[in-house]
Amino acid sequence: MAAVGKIYLVAVVTVVLASISSPVSADPEMLQDVCVADLASGVKVNGFACKPTFNASDFFFDGLAKPGLTNNTLGSRVTAANVEKVPGLNTLGVSLSRVDYAPGGLNPPHTHPRATEMVYVLYGELDVGFITTANVLVSKSIKMGETFVFPRGLVHFQKNNGKDPAAAIAAFNSQLPGTQSIAATLFAASPPVPNNVLTKAFQVGTKEVEKIKSRLAPK
Ligand code: GLV
Ligand code: MN
Repeated sequence: MAAVGKIYLVAVVTVVLASISSPVSADPEMLQDVCVADLASGVKVNGFACKPTFNASDFFFDGLAKPGLTNNTLGSRVTAANVEKVPGLNTLGVSLSRVDYAPGGLNPPHTHPRATEMVYVLYGELDVGFITTANVLVSKSIKMGETFVFPRGLVHFQKNNGKDPAAAIAAFNSQLPGTQSIAATLFAASPPVPNNVLTKAFQVGTKEVEKIKSRLAPK
């Protein structure tokens, strides 16, 4: 199946996922057909204010069609197709991302406070996992055409331990899942998390904490 066809398939899965999970859905129910996000509005509501007029381009995005650049320290790139990119998603409770991985690339441990995520491997192989609140790692190797679920709020990751590039589509039951990347949250926050919090939490010295902070500092 062509990559675009696969993306379409996953989009359909996303909608199904969102509709069957509506009793526990992360986003509120919609109250009208469409409420295309007015991203420039100063009106603060839960989500975005609706634009008075809209057209097909508000429901379209081609940013997942091509691989994202993975020439960074992690060897991975997440390209989001959420309400910030697709204003028509406002109030609909679904979104997608595309994740590209260089050989050895890692999408580092992170959580989505507002969504469950389901990944679908477009090509390549990934070692994926999430950690429960009881500190149990649930992990598996998955390959092209296979899927895996990361329950809402739980820390999860994907690593390409293969020799070839890999790519996946991620489906979310939120228009804006939010991402908290564990390492960056703790070691690259602004203003910074105090060293004495991190040394005690990680049971290491100030030098080690500062080393990690300097490595993760925004370039
Ligand atoms: C993958 O975990 C993603 O959040 O895109
Ligand atoms: Mn994720």
